[in-house]
Amino acid sequence: MEIKPINSYDAMSKLAAKIVAGQIINKSKMVLGFATGSTPLGMYRELVKLYKKSKLDFSKVITFNLDEYLGLSPEHPQSYHYYMYENFFKYVNIREENIHIPKGNAEDPVQECLNYEREIEKVGGIDLQVLGIGVNGHVGFNEPNINLEARTHIIQLSNDTIKANSRFFKNLDEVPKKAITMGMATIMKSKRIILMAWGVEKKKPILKVISGNIATDVPASLLQVHNDVILVVDKKIYSSSTVTDPLFYPKKTIK
Ligand code: PGA
Repeated sequence: MEIKPINSYDAMSKLAAKIVAGQIINKSKMVLGFATGSTPLGMYRELVKLYKKSKLDFSKVITFNLDEYLGLSPEHPQSYHYYMYENFFKYVNIREENIHIPKGNAEDPVQECLNYEREIEKVGGIDLQVLGIGVNGHVGFNEPNINLEARTHIIQLSNDTIKANSRFFKNLDEVPKKAITMGMATIMKSKRIILMAWGVEKKKPILKVISGNIATDVPASLLQVHNDVILVVDKKIYSSSTVTDPLFYPKKTIK
């Protein structure tokens, strides 16, 4: 894992956008995995700036979002479909047919999961997956559990996640209790992964992600097995770390 401690949310967003843009420029066809939530908002803003100022071309970019709330239609203001269009897609030259987001209101959600997985395979897998991390260590909506599911599936959201995400809804009851999410294997098959973490509330899960231990009650800890992960992390979290595995994360990388 390559660890990049950063001083500000802005710096994190710029660095993540630079990595994404670099990959787009270097490849004629690029498959990106996208995340939602507060963490990547700044990155999307930076990518829109790069599109406007530097003509970063999204016309050959194919995207797959990590997850979607089950039961929400794409028009619902709290759906991740709505988020992606409002914060990113409508400002760049991405082709509608290249955008993939699980359909929260699919008639047959199980079939939707299978189709989603097949669509990812059809384009040769994800080249670069952008991830945030939940306060409980989830990635996508892969919630802490004894067993994790490998492929795109329907998941019951944990109380921690429902509580954390209630800030986007009128109240706790309005937060959907289930979601469709890529599985851990879907994510781990991505060729490259950027994990972003900003704010002290992410300290606990991030320290576990770099601990050297892999546990299904911190799904993000599985990322330690992947050989191309860039962790862009709030310096307040990382510099105070005392539990990094010295073999993987030598002290000299701690700033
Ligand atoms: P956040 O969510 O970016 O809104 O903190 C991250 C997540 O739950 O994966």
